[in-house]
Amino acid sequence: MKSWIAKSGVDSIADLAFETAPVPVPGPGEVRIRVKAVSLNARDLMVLEQGFMRSPQVDLVLGSDVSGTVDVLGEGVTDWQVGDHVVNLHFNGWFDGVPPALAGGGLGSLEEQGVLAEYIVLPADRISAAPRGFSHPEAACLPCAGVTAWNALMASQPVGEGDKVLVIGTGGVATSAMMIAQGAGAEVIQLVRRDDHNDRLRSRGIETIINSASEEDWGQAVAEATGGVDKVINTIGFGAVNQALTACAYGGEVAVIGLRDQKGPALGFELFGKSVRGIMVGSASMYAALKEQLETSRKKPIIERTYPLAETDAALQAMKQSGRLGKIVVTTEA
Ligand SMILES: NC(=O)c1ccc[n+]([C@@H]2O[C@H](COP(=O)([O-])OP(=O)(O)OC[C@H]3O[C@@H](n4cnc5c(N)ncnc54)[C@H](OP(=O)(O)O)[C@@H]3O)[C@@H](O)[C@H]2O)c1
Repeated sequence: MKSWIAKSGVDSIADLAFETAPVPVPGPGEVRIRVKAVSLNARDLMVLEQGFMRSPQVDLVLGSDVSGTVDVLGEGVTDWQVGDHVVNLHFNGWFDGVPPALAGGGLGSLEEQGVLAEYIVLPADRISAAPRGFSHPEAACLPCAGVTAWNALMASQPVGEGDKVLVIGTGGVATSAMMIAQGAGAEVIQLVRRDDHNDRLRSRGIETIINSASEEDWGQAVAEATGGVDKVINTIGFGAVNQALTACAYGGEVAVIGLRDQKGPALGFELFGKSVRGIMVGSASMYAALKEQLETSRKKPIIERTYPLAETDAALQAMKQSGRLGKIVVTTEA
């Protein structure tokens, strides 16, 4: 089988290896999955190029988010059947509550091999059923981006009918948040830094779109346009927290997700009457709740483009391009 490997010391897309390896065999308590689709995340580039969550001596198969079918059951596995449509769970051993100390960084980081391969083997409790009616590319968008957006919107101060949610950006986490917030009956307000997707956003029911390139004080602009939002999906990072708090009504929450701006100003008076929460993808129970909502709302992730597995290098390059609306997905079958 083929897989995409960042050998120890490799830190560029051009130097990734697309290698042939033996098809893995599941041990006791494990399942083998025939990989059908893998969605890419900003973190995959951080692991490769910036050493984020990377063990320097490990030759690492990249990729954290897979959808596939159970192919072979290891000894003692009774929860799954061959042919089941499944996705992975992001963290090691985070089923509910707060993350365990050894949660790791997700598949395709540190010591855990990733999913950009034709077959993978995982512990039977590291997978969950895909939502009914989802294709493999759609389901592959859920383990990291989907669960992160669910955690931000629903795990604390859950949004619902009539609430206002400010979504920053139009990438994977942002469009997942749009899907979930609208599925819950909330109004989405969109912050962009380019206007080329505004028609597509409006066609998805988003009436208020604010451009941070022309509205430097965008937090105030959002507050004036909306009367203050209940939640901000901050995909930028610490540097956007004060503006995001300004955008909030009293009682609102800023969910800090992005790792792009890791500096940012100290918190100011904007914080009072509002709250800030740091998001770490999410747990198995958050995935289960997300699945349940999607099966009811029938909303689907937005996929910008799919690539065949052999062109994963081009797909990773596409992740670097500005102007996407939604996810980039790699598939193993035409
Ligand atoms: N905390 C967690 O658990 C967690 C989980 C998942 C992701 N993340 C982080 O969340 C962020 C988004 O991840 P993703 O996978 O959704 O990424 P993605 O699909 O690559 O999305 C990129 C989006 O961010 C926008 N963007 C890029 N640089 C920006 C900047 N300097 N200021 C404002 N917007 C900018 C892009 O806008 P343009 O199209 O205009 O370039 C695009 O809309 C990343 O930093 C990622 O590491 C964190």
